[in-house]
Amino acid sequence: MNVHDSEKMAGIFSETGYNEADGRNDADVIVLNTCSIRDKAEQKFYSELGRLKKAKQENPNLKVAVAGCIAQQEGEKLFKKFPYIDFVVGPNNLDSVQKWVSNGIHSTTGNHQSTAIFDNPEYHTKILPVKREGGTRAWVSIMYGCNNYCAYCVVPYTRGRERSRAVSDIYDEIVELAKQGYKEVALLGQNVNSYGKGLPGDVDFPHLLNEIHKVDGIKRIRFVTNHPGDFSLKLIEAIRDLPKVCEHIHLPVQAGSDNTLLAMNRKYTYSEYSEKVSLLKKEVPGMAITTDIIAGFPGETDDDFECTFNALKEIQYDGIFAFKYSKRPGTKALDFPDHLDEQIKSERLARILDLQETITHKINKSLEGEILEVLVEGASNNNPDRLTGRTRTNKIVNFPGDTSDIGELINVKIIEAGTHSLYGEKV
Ligand code: 5AD
Ligand code: SF4
Repeated sequence: MNVHDSEKMAGIFSETGYNEADGRNDADVIVLNTCSIRDKAEQKFYSELGRLKKAKQENPNLKVAVAGCIAQQEGEKLFKKFPYIDFVVGPNNLDSVQKWVSNGIHSTTGNHQSTAIFDNPEYHTKILPVKREGGTRAWVSIMYGCNNYCAYCVVPYTRGRERSRAVSDIYDEIVELAKQGYKEVALLGQNVNSYGKGLPGDVDFPHLLNEIHKVDGIKRIRFVTNHPGDFSLKLIEAIRDLPKVCEHIHLPVQAGSDNTLLAMNRKYTYSEYSEKVSLLKKEVPGMAITTDIIAGFPGETDDDFECTFNALKEIQYDGIFAFKYSKRPGTKALDFPDHLDEQIKSERLARILDLQETITHKINKSLEGEILEVLVEGASNNNPDRLTGRTRTNKIVNFPGDTSDIGELINVKIIEAGTHSLYGEKV
């Protein structure tokens, strides 16, 4: 989400005559696009901001902007605490970067400007220029905000109410991407399963997938992220029946205990979740499933935690993102009794990650010898002599190859499987 927001701001700067700088020392403007989902992300921002103070002392013409969720959360307060910040912009108002630039970003009278407007009701109708990273897979926003209010989560407070973009706007953007040579689109929203609510007509997420499927040139469609409560049979059928929709879903379970799920306000039980997963696996053979887990939510007992541990064993995810519960300002869980010690949270997280490593490795090992379709993204970061790409199931594959393969769909035989990536040979 944040990466794509940065691409939108880069698009605005690029249209107004700014180019990407080689590094911090070479920049006229630095935008910090912030995340406040967990405390760690927030702390990272404040240390970076500290470093920029020095940069600004060395180069008083440097302009510093803060965008994203911390900008929304803190608003004008940021100017008071850090007077060297020039501009603050919330995630529902990125187009106002344009105004900042046209109002004279570098004028000496251009004092602090903040447009951390919480609820810009028009934002989802705007067509923003986007400067995308990479030329094979494109992120496309289909909706903004979230109405779910999970007890631990800051997103509904920073990104506002859920709003869907019009099908025609999304469709047109993807037609344009296909013309530019993109083969894969990844549809973005906090809860894509509730796409369409509030739009005129009978529009839902499976309908959107059907429309996008018609775009010539697009070979793969992905989407993130899903809320299990809204995950429907109709969507399972769309994944099954639309060949371009990839066999991978990220379906955050968060916890395996019904007590914890209730306290989290997730609105489903573990058995409802696992029934949906079983149906999905039955209808779409080879479906890869990944998830998010929170370890040590307030009140999580040893028994609750064992339920999560057992859920991982039962479902056999292809991969997980697991986090220690982190206190977030303004959220319900902050006031819950029984917050757990850091040490317990760390121990539980370590046990989860350990277990998952074995499961992921086992699943990846089972792919050795198989021939898989890979969309080639570019040179591998770790070894520039190798190319890297992704399978339809979203697994990273590295292999020796020619740069002329970049952007192409090719078949690769998997020779060796690790936990984080696969190694193969082009066939
Ligand atoms: N503490 C820990 N993890 C969190 N997430 C969201 N809020 C918190 C929090 N306060 C995790 C959830 C979510 C993912 C994007 O981040 O697992 O699915
Ligand atoms: Fe946060 Fe829950 Fe919304 Fe996801 S669904 S963004 S976890 S409130």
